[in-house]
Amino acid sequence: GSSSASQIERKPLFSSLDSKDVSSFKEILGDKNVVEDEERLETANTDWMKKYKGSSKLMLLPKNTEEVSQILQYCDSRRLAVVPQGGNTGLVGGSVPVFDEVIINVGLMNKVLAFDEVSGVLVCEAGCILENLATFLDTKGFIMPLDLGAKGSCHIGGNVSTNAGGLRLIRYGSLHGTVLEAVTANGNVLDMLGTLRKDNTGYDLKHLFIGSEGSLGIVTKVSILTQPKLSSVNLAFIACKDYLSCQKILVEAKKNLGEILSAFEFLDNNSMDLVLNHLDGVRNPVSSTENFYILIETTGSDETNDREKLEAFLLKSLEKGLVSDGVIAQDINQASSFWRIREGITEALQKAGAVYKYDLSLPVEEIYNIVNDLRRRLGELANVMGYGHLGDGNLHLNISAADYNDKLIGLIEPYVYEWTSKHRGSISAEHGLGVMKANEIFYSKSPETVAIMASIKKLLDPKGILNPYKVLPHSLFSH
Ligand code: FAD
Ligand code: MLT
Ligand code: ZN
Repeated sequence: GSSSASQIERKPLFSSLDSKDVSSFKEILGDKNVVEDEERLETANTDWMKKYKGSSKLMLLPKNTEEVSQILQYCDSRRLAVVPQGGNTGLVGGSVPVFDEVIINVGLMNKVLAFDEVSGVLVCEAGCILENLATFLDTKGFIMPLDLGAKGSCHIGGNVSTNAGGLRLIRYGSLHGTVLEAVTANGNVLDMLGTLRKDNTGYDLKHLFIGSEGSLGIVTKVSILTQPKLSSVNLAFIACKDYLSCQKILVEAKKNLGEILSAFEFLDNNSMDLVLNHLDGVRNPVSSTENFYILIETTGSDETNDREKLEAFLLKSLEKGLVSDGVIAQDINQASSFWRIREGITEALQKAGAVYKYDLSLPVEEIYNIVNDLRRRLGELANVMGYGHLGDGNLHLNISAADYNDKLIGLIEPYVYEWTSKHRGSISAEHGLGVMKANEIFYSKSPETVAIMASIKKLLDPKGILNPYKVLPHSLFSH
């Protein structure tokens, strides 16, 4: 187990599941969708990194909003704690129980409900897998406004609940453009399933649910603005000597490729090495080994012009000495092999051993200073790497080691949080707080702000049954 999660105590006010509860759930959902099978529970209790593990004895699989409402109403009346779960790809221990919370997984709610080819608005159930939505939209000539390495497993409801960022945020913005339907703790269904682009009637409550990590309600439906699929997508893979050059290339790319820029991602050579060592069939696209690599993707509608633009950009950057080597993918297969490197880092890290993950927003000019500082601090004890969404100022600082141990944690925390706070960054840029960082929220938010969050939580979930021990500090909810 991980150090911070193992220091939490189960709240005695929560009931323990009994056989009457199980029968009641079976009445609501039918026997088949009340899961007591040990093997399936083992999977559902364990997070993607195999770092966090709960001991739930029950997983519920509702088929529609009405069933979610009924289960929550029941759990609230019995004060049974629950953990909402989607594809279980979250990286902060938010999607698995800490103790014996009942798991509510919306995976059976996976239907596309409507798609409007004029507005591009897609309405679907929360359990739709991101990649399936992308495949569906492809047949209609549209794309999802978000893309991430976990697309094959993560749910759109999970994406909305974590406000997932990913590889296209630089172009299409965050999921706060999304609207949804949510069910709160007492079973109330809040229908916010609008499809309007503009609607300024009062407080826009949907934003509370986007990024609240299952602590305020369960998202059951999502309505999301998708984008037309454009004909020309190009991808460059670039090598750079130093971090300052990466920064300069970002500034130049925004200036010169602005209207077609759709991704700007980076990785350092430690990350590249890890991918080459742990994933099959991957090779470095450029001939030289360098300290940094950048992926620049453009998306536009003028095939000849867009490509020439990217080529000219690359050439100019080579001439200026900002880039030491670079290639543009010749076809879709080559482009996927470039993306495989960037998107494969998470998987490679998992294969390499224990990983300590930090997901920081920092001023772009500070991003690599923390990597260097931590590398000096940890010396031979661990492998420190930096990669992430450079175009959005989002660093993934990862420390790979043989195991999870308190000595290493003690050297990393609170050092990384203090460093981030000092530079007015965020300790969670896109992954959320989960159980990992619930107690660390004050590094990025003022006590006044957190107090209002706690009041909102109390309002929507008075008994605190929704994803306890996550997001907000435990000290605020001692009873
Ligand atoms: P889960 O992991 O099941 O849950 C995540 C949180 O949301 C939990 O707190 C859970 O309680 C809550 N939740 C889930 N479904 C619901 C629901 N229907 N209603 C209410 N609450 C719910 N994240 C990024 O932001 N950007 C990335 O680029 C990115 N890349 C990734 C790559 C890999 C290989 C992996 C493993 C993860 C990556 N992630 C990334 C993290 C993760 O995939 C995202 O956070 C994703 O959005 C989680 O979706 P999920 O369905 O798996 O949710
Ligand atoms: C990514 O950008 O690769 C994801 O957020 C996952 C990770 O941080 O490892
Ligand atoms: Zn990321």
